[in-house]
Amino acid sequence: MGKQLNLKEMVGIKAASYVTDGMTVGLGTGSTAYYMIEELGRRVKEENLKIVGVPTSYASKKQAEALNIPVKTIDQVNYVDLTIDGADEISHDFHGIKGGGAALLFEKVVATYSKEIIWIVDESKMVDKLGRFPLPVEVIPYGQDQLFRLFQEKNYHPSFRMESEEVLKQTDSGNSIIDLQLDCIDDPIALANELDSLVGVVEHGLFLSMVDRVIIGKESGPEVLEV
Ligand code: A5P
Repeated sequence: MGKQLNLKEMVGIKAASYVTDGMTVGLGTGSTAYYMIEELGRRVKEENLKIVGVPTSYASKKQAEALNIPVKTIDQVNYVDLTIDGADEISHDFHGIKGGGAALLFEKVVATYSKEIIWIVDESKMVDKLGRFPLPVEVIPYGQDQLFRLFQEKNYHPSFRMESEEVLKQTDSGNSIIDLQLDCIDDPIALANELDSLVGVVEHGLFLSMVDRVIIGKESGPEVLEV
């Protein structure tokens, strides 16, 4: 009997099967995307798969390079054929929260220039409405305490993402992350517009109407939803 796959590994491997020779592939970030990158590395080695990877974080870049997957930055390619990434929450209408791994900015940039996007999640990430997962907001350090106070006034229950007890988490772009504990986001589009309009906010983790296919890991096997 073969080894039992965990759900993240199951969807990572399934998603990698959508990758074909010659593709430029956006490489997501996180513990689920990890398995997809491992599988692409296996296919590069064992099946001589020819791809170029566009990593969405330093961590994914390091992993891809270690697996001999050729990598380029988003600025070195014309576009990305397919991006495969994890998500923290996906609502019934296929909006998502991302950024639990602090890579939301590069993830959104790569997603923006991708012809097709697949999200891979285990079934615990599927929700009716977004918001139980804290919404990450990436902010530049200058003025970040002002934004924090503004979010407090709006009752968004902000907290700075920490690296350790004393040290703020720094993103790959040298920014900070403020997580908003909103519990239930009734109007994600309005909230995204509001956050987009704030000076000092670089990006937020609301990924709205971006995904084309969701692969959900279930005990019974991977379920593929076309959006
Ligand atoms: C990284 O910043 C995130 O957007 C991840 O894609 C997301 O947090 C999912 O991560 P896991 O697969 O580790 O749950």
